Amino acid sequence: MHWDAQRYLDRHGFIIERGQALIDLLAPQAGERVLDLGCGTGDIAAAIAASGADVVGVDASPAMIASARARFPEQDFRIADAAELSFEEAFDAVFSHAVLHWVTRPADAARGIARALKPGGRLVAEFGGHRNCAALEAGFAQALLQVAGRPYPSPWYFPRLPDYTGLLEDIGLVVRAAWHFELPTPLKGSDGLRQWIIQFLPHHLDGLSDAEHEAVLTATEAALRPAIWHDGAWWADYRRLRVVAEKTGQAASDHKV
Ligand code: BEZ
Repeated sequence: MHWDAQRYLDRHGFIIERGQALIDLLAPQAGERVLDLGCGTGDIAAAIAASGADVVGVDASPAMIASARARFPEQDFRIADAAELSFEEAFDAVFSHAVLHWVTRPADAARGIARALKPGGRLVAEFGGHRNCAALEAGFAQALLQVAGRPYPSPWYFPRLPDYTGLLEDIGLVVRAAWHFELPTPLKGSDGLRQWIIQFLPHHLDGLSDAEHEAVLTATEAALRPAIWHDGAWWADYRRLRVVAEKTGQAASDHKV
């Protein structure tokens, strides 16, 4: 999918701010090598590097990597698909914030993460869990069908907690902690809902006339206003899955999914 890095920074920078809690959980140490998987605009990689860690940021989007390199030229950013990582025992930690729900080959991603970790290394990740954005997706699906006659196939992977921790354990990582929690999040501005759709679901609007495009957005707002507009803002019904897992001495390749 094409990423609009500037719109992301302008309208969805709160996602970067929310990454700070996960950096605290990572507790990066000076001299550690850390992979930021799905680094986007590079802000979180730069924040991790401020601890003295040596950070490599990867992202599948050339537009995001171009933005990251321009904003943080001293950092190491590379284009790479999370499901096709080629690192071998290169990192003390793999960190990933608000990314793994985009990766629809989760077992391939998990195997690549396990391979990329040194023995004793850790994965610290947070992404959308089961029923993440359930209201948002239902409202948009209803509007898209009514206005444009299009079905809505969800582009995301939002697993249940035991399904994801089981997947990690099947490939040989040891899950040290895991959470599934609600994180209602205000979107920026009275047009926040439509900006969210334009940013994250642009391909579902491809090929619509300007009038249909506007009608889908208006119908989504009408469908969702009773449920997620309050206190002067649209609230995204985020539900996060957060995990900490460790690669112990046993090689991940000894395990099969
Ligand atoms: C999330 O952070 O949960 C998310 C962000 C954009 C699209 C879908 C999910």
